[in-house]
Amino acid sequence: MKGRPLKLLSALKRTAVVGAVMLAAAATLQPVATAAAGAAPPVVGGTRAAQGEFPFMVRLSMGCGGSLLTQQIVLTAAHCVNGSGNNTSITATAGVVDLQSTSAIKVKSTKVLQAPGYNGTGKDWALIKLASPINRATLNIADTNAYDSGTFTVAGWGSAREGGAQQRYLLKAQVPFVSDASCGQSYPGLVDEEEICAGYTQGGVDTCQGDSGGPMFRRDNNNEWIQVGIVSWGQGCARPNYPGVYAEVSHFAADIRAAAATL
Ligand code: ARG
Repeated sequence: MKGRPLKLLSALKRTAVVGAVMLAAAATLQPVATAAAGAAPPVVGGTRAAQGEFPFMVRLSMGCGGSLLTQQIVLTAAHCVNGSGNNTSITATAGVVDLQSTSAIKVKSTKVLQAPGYNGTGKDWALIKLASPINRATLNIADTNAYDSGTFTVAGWGSAREGGAQQRYLLKAQVPFVSDASCGQSYPGLVDEEEICAGYTQGGVDTCQGDSGGPMFRRDNNNEWIQVGIVSWGQGCARPNYPGVYAEVSHFAADIRAAAATL
């Protein structure tokens, strides 16, 4: 289903961009308690990622996540950046699950490339060129929709519950694929070809504010990690019947590779 998102959703998305980080619950789903009117249902934090488990994960200084497309180019969300051009204002932190670790690798940006035609709906990808390479494993991106199904892993330093603080330690969680037909029921503005949804009908596990730009990934047929999504938006976090929405990487893979070649 196509069309513009509801105004409310756009507003939420913008808020999310400015907002901090967050990753919701993990394996231990907790019963959703009766929330006070208007309050978010409680979301349990994801589990901690192990040091080195996701070497391609990057934290960006504007409060977003990202992944190493190459050792010198970070793939993130278009809504995490202001536009395209020379930009030395972003710091990428990598190589650690603990953002305060003295072993953290910190590298400044030199350029930003926001998806051409990005206007706040769909096309939520961007590239950040780094001043120097980060010597860590990169994350392959899916070139076809063959992996747009199953169970995905998400990770980030975003909030561990809706409205919560950003995290010092990288959290991870698993979320199942949600079809466009089902996701479109919750989000009439969903852009089917450009967005892919994931989450549980009952909620409880989700990405959240500050996870934006980070990867959603799974194992490919060679048992390698492959990126299928980029954390983009959602109504609240981990709410029942409101899955997370991710940029559909396979749809943009050719554009992303072509853009990276220009940086
Ligand atoms: N836009 C948010 C950010 O900037 C990510 C929101 C993801 N929300 C969700 N329910 N999955 O961090």
